[in-house]
Amino acid sequence: GQIEKCGYPHFMLKEIFEQPECLKNCMRGRINADVDKVTLSAVIDYKERLLAAKRIIIVACGTSWHAGLIGKQLIETFCRIPVDVEYASEFRYRNPVVTKDDLVIAMSQSGETADTLAAIELAKRSGALIYGICNAVGSSIPRATDTGSYIHVGPEIGVASTKAFTGQVIVLVMLSLALAKEKGTIDDQTYNDVVKELSLIPDKMKEVLEQNDKIADLSRIFTYAHNVIYLGRGYSYPVALEGALKLKEISYIHAEGYPAAEMKHGPIALVDSDMPVVVIATHNAMYEKVLSNIQEIKARKGRVIALVTKGDETISRIADEVIELPKTLECLEPLLATIPLQLLAYHIAVCKDKNVDQPRNLAKSVTVE
Ligand code: G6P
Repeated sequence: GQIEKCGYPHFMLKEIFEQPECLKNCMRGRINADVDKVTLSAVIDYKERLLAAKRIIIVACGTSWHAGLIGKQLIETFCRIPVDVEYASEFRYRNPVVTKDDLVIAMSQSGETADTLAAIELAKRSGALIYGICNAVGSSIPRATDTGSYIHVGPEIGVASTKAFTGQVIVLVMLSLALAKEKGTIDDQTYNDVVKELSLIPDKMKEVLEQNDKIADLSRIFTYAHNVIYLGRGYSYPVALEGALKLKEISYIHAEGYPAAEMKHGPIALVDSDMPVVVIATHNAMYEKVLSNIQEIKARKGRVIALVTKGDETISRIADEVIELPKTLECLEPLLATIPLQLLAYHIAVCKDKNVDQPRNLAKSVTVE
C-alpha cells in the first residue's frame, strides 16, 4: 500500500525525513520563484472578503495551535491585521466576541478535531468568514469552512505531528504574503526576498537532516533528564513550545517551552547541573539577548543545547552542545529550527524504548471532547 515505512524504523522518522519533499508538494503551483509570485486560489476567490477582514482569529489545538502562533507573527508583520490565536476548546465555551468582519482561520492536520469543528460552528453563527488550513482532504473541517488551503503533505501516521506542522507554517507564510500583496502592506523587496528564500527552504532542511547522527548521539546524554526547558524568542518562541510538546508526547519527559526573556520570572529557579536547556539562538534581531540568557543558564550550571546559525563561534564556546542551522530569513527560521527538535525528541524516545508512533494516552485525531 501507499502507507509504508519505506525502510524507516518508525513512521515518525520517515515523516521527519519527508519534510523537504512534502514542503515542495505544499508549494507546488503556489510559489513561483522565477517570477517572484505566490498564488493561493482561496485568496483569489475570496479576495474582497479577505481584504475586508478587520481581525483574524486562529483556532486550533495541539501542534496546530503552535503553527497558529507563528501565523500570528507572520500575518501581523506582513498584513498589519491584528491576530488572536485561540485554543479551540477555550474559544468555543467562552462566548467570544466574533463578528462578520472577522476572518477565522481553523488549523487542523486531521480536519476532524471536535473542539476545532465546534469553534467553527460557533464563529459561523456570527457571520465570520471561515478559512481552513488542513491536511486530510475532504475531512469534516474543510467541509465546514467557506474556503481554505490544504497543506498537501500526505498522510501523517505518527501520532506526534511533524510534517503537518512545517506544512502549516509554509501555508501561513504563503497566505500572509498573498494577502499582504493584495493589501499593499508589504514592499516589493521584502515580498520577493521571502518568496525566493521559501523556495530554498527544502534544500536547507536537507542540510539540517544531515545532522541526524549527531543528534542521535547527543540524545543519549539527555535520556535520563526529568525536566527539559526549551527557550526561544519571536518566531522561535512557538518553536520552543513545539519542541517541548514533542518531547512530552513521545518520551514522557516533562518539558516546558518558554519565551527566553520570561525565564527570569520562574523557570530559572529550576536550572541546575541536571537540567538540560534547549535554546534557539539563531543570528537574528534577538541574538544578543538570547546570548545573555545562555550565560545566565551557564552561570547556574545548566546544560545548554543551542541551535545556532552556521558559523556562530560565540555560542559554540559557551554552550555544551551546538546544532547548526543554515542562514535564512528570520520569519522562515521556524521551518529549520523545528527539525532538530523533532529529531531530538524522536531519538530520546527511542533510547528510552518508548512506542514512538503510538504514545500512551494520545490519539492522532481527537474526535470527542
Ligand atoms: C492530537 C494529536 C496532535 C495534534 C492535535 C490537533 O492531540 O495527537 O498531534 O496536534 O490533536 O490535531 P489536528 O488534527 O486538529 O491538527
